[in-house]
Amino acid sequence: MYHHDKHLKAYIDKLNKILSDYPGYQNLSLKEIIENLSSFPQNIRTDLRNNAGGVFNHKLYFDIINPKKTGKEPINITNAIIKQYKDFGEFVKIFKQQANEVFGSGYLFLTINKFNELQFVITANQNSVFELNLYPIMLIDLWEHAYYLDYQNRRSDYINNFVKIVNLEKVEERYVNYFNDK
Ligand SMILES: [Fe+2]
Repeated sequence: MYHHDKHLKAYIDKLNKILSDYPGYQNLSLKEIIENLSSFPQNIRTDLRNNAGGVFNHKLYFDIINPKKTGKEPINITNAIIKQYKDFGEFVKIFKQQANEVFGSGYLFLTINKFNELQFVITANQNSVFELNLYPIMLIDLWEHAYYLDYQNRRSDYINNFVKIVNLEKVEERYVNYFNDK
């Protein structure tokens, strides 16, 4: 709750403050802001990258650990994972390995690349994978603020437990939306 109510809220408040001086930009989506950073005034680009990224990344983070389930089998993402990583256990193993390799404040994302393949990517700070032309469908927040209160320095315990609560239905939703929106 601290992560959601304090950290995410701080990014939202800061982004709203930046955009309060630019009414013309207020109807843009977070994705549109991130993808078009170069069209914004130079003096607000860094703040926009950090805060629009911070809001987007956290919203995705909390969305994919939302415990509400419909019971609908996440068939498409499961098949894509098995096709690419041979079996689900291997996919989870790679996810944990990569997450443990993140150095400093950042994220591990699972994305869809331009070849419609699944691709892991590590980003620093609140940078967004939209800037890399990748579409995010899952991520883990590896900033210390994400786990320090509960786990202190035991980051791998946080990663192991995070994997257990990911709602694959949400990842499926994003996976399917990507292909529907194309
Ligand atoms: Fe965070």
